[in-house]
Amino acid sequence: MLPSSKSLRPDDVVLTGDRPTGPLHVGHLAGSLQNRVALQGEVTQYLLIADLQALTDHARDPERVAAAVTEVVADYLAVGIDPDRTTIVLQSELPELAELTMLYLDLVSVSRLERNPTVRAEAKARGLARGIPAGFMTYPVSQAADITAFRGTLVPVGADQLPMIEQSNEIVRAVNRLAGRVVLPESRALLSSTAKLPGIDGSAKMSKSAGNTLLLSATPDEIRAAVRAMFTDPRHLRPEDPGRTEGNVVFAYLHAFDPDRAGLEELAERYRRGGVGDAETKRRLETVLTGLLEPIAQRRAEIITDRQRLFDVALEGSRRARPRVAQTLQDVREVFGLRRR
Ligand code: TRP
Repeated sequence: MLPSSKSLRPDDVVLTGDRPTGPLHVGHLAGSLQNRVALQGEVTQYLLIADLQALTDHARDPERVAAAVTEVVADYLAVGIDPDRTTIVLQSELPELAELTMLYLDLVSVSRLERNPTVRAEAKARGLARGIPAGFMTYPVSQAADITAFRGTLVPVGADQLPMIEQSNEIVRAVNRLAGRVVLPESRALLSSTAKLPGIDGSAKMSKSAGNTLLLSATPDEIRAAVRAMFTDPRHLRPEDPGRTEGNVVFAYLHAFDPDRAGLEELAERYRRGGVGDAETKRRLETVLTGLLEPIAQRRAEIITDRQRLFDVALEGSRRARPRVAQTLQDVREVFGLRRR
């Protein structure tokens, strides 16, 4: 099913990215991977592995970023991204992106960067406070370079990325204003229809450091353990008690992944009324997640053994995409009065 069929235009170019800081989890699946698989073949699509962006707050841990590049390629292929239909690129293999960033930085004020709510929240979450790397502060500008270099018009992301797209479009308008004509297209977000998935402990964000994620590579045992540990409704003590489905992690995940919508509605209804134990809802979720993740984890386990081949997929995609980003850089250089190379 294509969630975006209403809003999709045949000439849309999809560009989206992920920071390689570790393997992807089910939050990524619900938040944007499923959209990307659905869009594949409908329109031109690029997936960017943003290793330079990952380094903006992981410069002390470059091995982790390097290792995660192939982890993310493996995740893409395992969920059904086909590198012949979707071009997978590696940010650091496209120096044009860095040069574009340099030019765009001249169009953005420091105070505008300081107002970006996602950067603020991330800086706070990472305890960066005063020691915030300049590269981290300016990564929304580099993300604007990512989007515009590919002339991306549709960006499947989670809601936390909306400020990035807004900031990118401000830069697009500034470039076009400077040129006196339309040089770059604006882009729009494609949000998933499922709300953002909470961590298994019920906290708003899934993160590896909090140990509350469920990876795409999870084994049946890991799935069972995660579901068992899931936060439900602390006041729903006995099956007879009426329970809350809101804020209940088991229901949040069922809503995201259970294909039997009618059965789920009926279960939620009974749960709210009283008469359903958490054991029943958890059993259902375990079945749903095992059915969803088992084939993904299996495919992933097969392909992760050949890291070189996975890296080559990203190199080959970058090579294919390079003329396109080089063309955009030429156009923007010209706007700034620089020689066409
Ligand atoms: N900032 C995005 C994230 O943290 C990753 C990203 C990098 C991205 N470049 C992008 C997303 C370009 C969309 C478009 O998830």
